[in-house]
Amino acid sequence: MTAAGVALESGASAPETVLAVAPLLSVRQVSVRFGGLAALDSVSLDAAPGEVVGVIGPNGAGKTTLFNVICGFVRPDAGTIVYDGQPLRRLRPHQLIPLRIARTLQGVGLWQSLTVVENVMASLHRRSRGDIASALLGLPRSSRDEQRLRVLALASLERLGVADHAERYPGSLPYAVQKKVALARALVSEPRLLLLDEPASGLSEADIESLATLVRELRRHLAVLLVEHHMDFVMSVCDRLEVLDFGRVIASGTPDEVRRNPLVTSAYLGEDVPGEPYDGPSAGAALDSTIERDVPESGQSR
Ligand SMILES: Nc1ncnc2c1ncn2[C@@H]1O[C@H](COP(=O)(O)OP(=O)(O)OP(=O)(O)O)[C@@H](O)[C@H]1O
Ligand SMILES: [Mg+2]
Repeated sequence: MTAAGVALESGASAPETVLAVAPLLSVRQVSVRFGGLAALDSVSLDAAPGEVVGVIGPNGAGKTTLFNVICGFVRPDAGTIVYDGQPLRRLRPHQLIPLRIARTLQGVGLWQSLTVVENVMASLHRRSRGDIASALLGLPRSSRDEQRLRVLALASLERLGVADHAERYPGSLPYAVQKKVALARALVSEPRLLLLDEPASGLSEADIESLATLVRELRRHLAVLLVEHHMDFVMSVCDRLEVLDFGRVIASGTPDEVRRNPLVTSAYLGEDVPGEPYDGPSAGAALDSTIERDVPESGQSR
C-alpha cells in the first residue's frame, strides 16, 4: 500500500485493489529554528482521509512544533504545507475551523473560566479573535446564535459521554473527563483533519481503550495525525508512523516496520545503532510501553 493509499475490499477471487487517495495534508521540507535550536529539520509527511498517521519520538523531538506549524501558530523558516490542494500560507488560528482543521493540545488546554459547554461553544467561533474575546467577556450576542452553538456543543459532549458535565467548570472535573471535553471541543467543528497531541496521556487503560475505539471510528471519515507516547495505543490505532528525533524524520512505515527499526530503538533509548541488520525481538519490546526521554527544560542543549 502506498503512503497515502487505502486498500479497498475486493471479491474473493479478485486480487486486492489499491486506491491511491490524494493526501489531504502534505508537509514538505519544513524547518523551524528557535534561536540556535533546529526544532524541525526538513520534515516531510502526508496524511490522507481514512488513515491515522502517528508522529512519535522522544521528548523534545519536535512533535508539538510540527502541529504548531500546521496550525499556523509557528511560522516555518523553510518548507511548504499543502492542505486540500492549496498551500497554507500565513494561516491564522481563527481560519482553522472554516478549513475544517482541528486539534487538541498537549495537556487539556481548556479555558478554566468557562464552563464545559462554553469551552466547546467558544471553539465554534469562525470569525476574529475579537468575537472570541466578546464571548469570554460575556458581551451580548444573538440568543439564536447562542442557542445554535449550545445545541452543537451539547451534541459533541454527548458523543464523548460527558454532556452531564456541561455546566461544570473544567477545574472541578477529573483529568480524564477534561481530556474528553477537549476532544469534544475539537470534534464539534466536524474537522476533515484532526491533530491529536498526546490524547492518551493521563488516562486509565480503560479510557485509552475507548479512545482507541473512537479514533478508529473517526478515521473512517477524516485524516488523523496523532502524537503520542503511549506505544500500545499508537501501535493499535495508527496505519503509519513517522518517527521524529531531534527535529528530523528518522523512520517511517507501518507500526511493525517502525517497531523493528533499530534507529527508532536507539532514538528512544540513546543506544548506539547496531551495525548489523536487526532481526530480533528486543528492539520492538523497547517500544511496548510509554517511553519518554528526559531533556533539559530549555531544550537548547543540542
Ligand atoms: N516557542 C519555543 N521557543 C523555543 N524553543 C522551543 C519552543 N517551542 C519548542 N521549543 C523547543 O523545540 C524542541 C521541540 O519541542 P516540542 O515541544 O516540539 O517537542 P515534542 O516532541 O512535542 O516533545 P514532548 O514529547 O516533550 O511534548 C524542544 O527542544 C523545545 O524545547
Ligand atoms: Mg509535545
